[in-house]
Amino acid sequence: MREVRGNRRDLLSISSLEKDEIINLLNSARSFAEVSTRSVKKVPALRGKTIVNLFMEPSTRTRMSFELAAKRLSADVVNFSSSTSSLSKGESLKDTAKTIVAMGVDAVVVRHGSAGAPQMMTAWVDCPVINAGDGMHEHPTQALLDLFTIRELLGRLEGLKVAIVGDIDHSRVARSNIHALRKVGAEVLLVAPQSLIPQDIRRMGVEVTGALDEALGWCDVLYLLRIQLERVNESRFPSLREYTLLYGLTEARWFELDPKPLVMHPGPMNRGVEIDSRVADEVESVITGQVAAGVALRMAVLYDLLGGSRG
Ligand code: NCD
Repeated sequence: MREVRGNRRDLLSISSLEKDEIINLLNSARSFAEVSTRSVKKVPALRGKTIVNLFMEPSTRTRMSFELAAKRLSADVVNFSSSTSSLSKGESLKDTAKTIVAMGVDAVVVRHGSAGAPQMMTAWVDCPVINAGDGMHEHPTQALLDLFTIRELLGRLEGLKVAIVGDIDHSRVARSNIHALRKVGAEVLLVAPQSLIPQDIRRMGVEVTGALDEALGWCDVLYLLRIQLERVNESRFPSLREYTLLYGLTEARWFELDPKPLVMHPGPMNRGVEIDSRVADEVESVITGQVAAGVALRMAVLYDLLGGSRG
């Protein structure tokens, strides 16, 4: 991966990856996906390696996914979660990093509420650092698993039309996906009220609209985002009900659509806000497919960075 320091590498962002590196990871994930279908879901590729999951922000699927990925590669995993948000973030992270170095671990997976925390971590530890979501900045493995899912289901990435709908401004998933989709040659249309679109976002090579219904007729993939209520207050739009009427995938919208796009969501979903609950049930297989792809993709990333021998 691009961030090369000495002979160690990190995965901090999609913006620093080349297209070839993205495609190689997707191809590698494909071979690792097979491991999860075996009755014994393990290969010895990272036997003897220790990986620390450092999650300083709530997470269900990303943390579990990294843990399963490491275990299926036969690595040992230590989970460290912290809700000590009252501590100064820089300090607590540095102290934790020192502990990690002292324990002699081989990789650290970091989720943090502050953008740039995984990057800071690289100065304090001597092993690869993987960004599992940092503030509103990036969530590279989410974007990679999304590309993997799209390619598996639609057979290609180049030239695809992808509409990303919702709280773009606060979304690290949107930022990583925009970088990733543009690098592999997909077209990206952002759909949201003006108040949830970052001002200079067009520089990333995307189009922007406020009209969901037009986007629905255009896209091959409809990527829905959660309103990040922990980072936004409703003053960005009149009310959640209003938001749903204008930007939600309601039953009325869904049943009128023909042909229907592939509907994706990074989770957790807010049923009844960005997606109607019955529509969510209809498209569930794709969304759970994203979760399954996450394990294979993270196996590919860990294998790539820790350089084990494939078993
Ligand atoms: C996302 C995240 O944490 O950024 N979730 C995830 O990793 N699957 C999206 C979100 O929280 O809405």
